[in-house]
Amino acid sequence: MLLVVLFAHSILRWAVLAAAAWAAFSARSGLRDGRAFTRKARVPGVVLAAVADVQLLLGLSMWLWLSPNAITAGGRSHYWTFVHPLAGIAVVALVHVGSVKSRRMLDDAGRWRTAYRFYLAALVVALLGIPWPLFGMGRALLPF
Ligand code: HEM
Repeated sequence: MLLVVLFAHSILRWAVLAAAAWAAFSARSGLRDGRAFTRKARVPGVVLAAVADVQLLLGLSMWLWLSPNAITAGGRSHYWTFVHPLAGIAVVALVHVGSVKSRRMLDDAGRWRTAYRFYLAALVVALLGIPWPLFGMGRALLPF
């Protein structure tokens, strides 16, 4: 079970990064071009939220239960117990808060700007939170 979840979680990191980059840069171009913030314009943010939510569920299942580094197994590693999960939760929070806040703005420029800031922040935190192979606790770029 751990192998399947870890495999999916590892692959899905690329979908999180791609969706965050798409959402951030489409919001930036919407702001720059003065486009209307229509239902269609919200698609990248909705896709990002969906992918990030699945990643959160997979991560939580390992953190709470499946992983040898799970908190229920004693949480032996500072990185896997605190740093990586908190970064992942922050990514998901930024995506959802950004989506809600942007929709509550009074004009389209404010909606685009808010979406851009939150989705860009989510992208940066995701990039920092991933265990890249260069790091001490790093993992491979692909799980195969
Ligand atoms: C949304 C952003 C996230 C990204 C991009 C991400 C990415 C990754 C990657 C690339 C790995 C290494 C996979 C491998 O070994 O090949 C990993 C492992 C792990 N992630 Fe995440 N993750 C995210 C969120 C989370 C969250 C929210 C949690 C927990 C609440 C979590 C818990 C874990 C755990 C426990 C492992 C290590 C399991 C083990 O090998 O013992 N992740 N993550």
